[in-house]
Amino acid sequence: MDTPHYWGVIPAAGQGTRMGAQRPKQYLELAGRRVLEHTLERLAADPRIAGIVVALGPDDAEWRHLTMPAGVEVWTVTGGAERCHSVLNALESLDGRAAPTDWVLVHDAARPCLRPADLSRLLDVLAGDPVGGLLALPVRDTMKRAGAGDRIDATVDRDGLWHALTPQMFRLQALREALDKAIAADVLVTDEAAAMEWAGHRPRLVAGAGDNLKITRPEDLPLAEYYLARQLRD
Ligand code: CTP
Ligand code: MG
Repeated sequence: MDTPHYWGVIPAAGQGTRMGAQRPKQYLELAGRRVLEHTLERLAADPRIAGIVVALGPDDAEWRHLTMPAGVEVWTVTGGAERCHSVLNALESLDGRAAPTDWVLVHDAARPCLRPADLSRLLDVLAGDPVGGLLALPVRDTMKRAGAGDRIDATVDRDGLWHALTPQMFRLQALREALDKAIAADVLVTDEAAAMEWAGHRPRLVAGAGDNLKITRPEDLPLAEYYLARQLRD
């Protein structure tokens, strides 16, 4: 069998409700460029990425103004109601370009601070893995489970708890089947790993840097700007 290719998938069809800005957060300005321009460049940074498909909202008016990263083909599809639908539409567009066993790396549009070294390490660590996995970060705060009236029911053991980051890297056909089945069963999966878990797989956690934040609320934008500036200094 030929060596599998690696494809990037960026779901960028969200509205950014929690951000509360005038435009979806992937189009906000960050260090002189759009958030999504940074994200595309970070995912294109590894030369093993053969192409990147981006899922856009149906009324997207901003995409055409972006500058594309050099050296990689980028194309778009229309996203869906939830992130999982957007990702599935993107995977379908790989038909004819990709082999069933090729790797896909799904990376949030709102994570512009992915370190190129973390991306490369994810590819290296998972290259021979039967399932795939994701960048993740061990939690550091003490974790509480809330009950009625926002009162604590229990303290949850922090040992073994991780934050799921992206990219999340799985084989094209396996991920497509897992997402298909989860959606058909009306199980709302909030990341690709959850779909794979639901299908009976056990994705691998690969420790990544904590500055790979997902821009979610207004205070995250200056933080991302700081992280980008610090990464360039280091
Ligand atoms: N996303 C998508 N299609 C959707 C919903 C989300 O492609 N139907 C994408 C977002 O654009 C984002 C990523 O999935 O890049 C992670 O989602 P999230 O951080 O929740 O972004 P939004 O849904 O845009 O934000 P919010 O939940 O605050 O509205
Ligand atoms: Mg959302």
